[in-house]
Amino acid sequence: MKIGILISGGGSNMIKLIESCQNNKNASINIVISNNPDAKGIEFAKSKKIKTKIINHKEFTEREDFDNQVNNVLIENKIDFLCNAGFMRIHGEKFVEKWFNKHLNIHPALLPSFKGLNTHERAIKSGVKFAGCTVHLVRSGVDEGPIIGQAVTSISIDDDKESLAKKVLKLEHKLYPKCLKLFTEKLVKVKNDKVIFSDKAIKIL
Ligand code: GRF
Repeated sequence: MKIGILISGGGSNMIKLIESCQNNKNASINIVISNNPDAKGIEFAKSKKIKTKIINHKEFTEREDFDNQVNNVLIENKIDFLCNAGFMRIHGEKFVEKWFNKHLNIHPALLPSFKGLNTHERAIKSGVKFAGCTVHLVRSGVDEGPIIGQAVTSISIDDDKESLAKKVLKLEHKLYPKCLKLFTEKLVKVKNDKVIFSDKAIKIL
């Protein structure tokens, strides 16, 4: 499986995905694409000799044109599967269709709660006692789609958005590679938006 990763920033999740595929004979990370020319994650990808490409969304007036350029680069590089890792752009419907059920995202909250931005601050303000992260298949609705995995942590009374973000990011780094592995090892199927896990999947999750 040839995997592409989309980033916009530090790419800490991208780093964990790259490391997790290094010993996976069924998967390789073949390209990292960033919409942000200053994304720190690009340097790490280069250091691992992974092809990188900057596609600056600011150079496109239409979202669809940006999406098409991203898709062209993915096709040129024979990518089979896509992982958003701290990617902060919303995909248009046509792009989502092209990568339907071959496209994961990680969100720093327990979906369907707290879609969108500033999830940790909102969770604390709401008074909930647990937070976490979700890996899901990408659909055209933002932070919507069949859930593949989640990880949870308690929100302590002395947590603030920074301390909670640190706790959740650590969970993300463990969860995302496991969820990707379910796809590279073909241990999960999706039928009519229902996720069907093979028995062996339990060993990974
Ligand atoms: C993470 O919280 C991720 O869930 C969100 O972006 C944040 C930064 O991710 N999508 P990364 O460090 O760039 O992977």
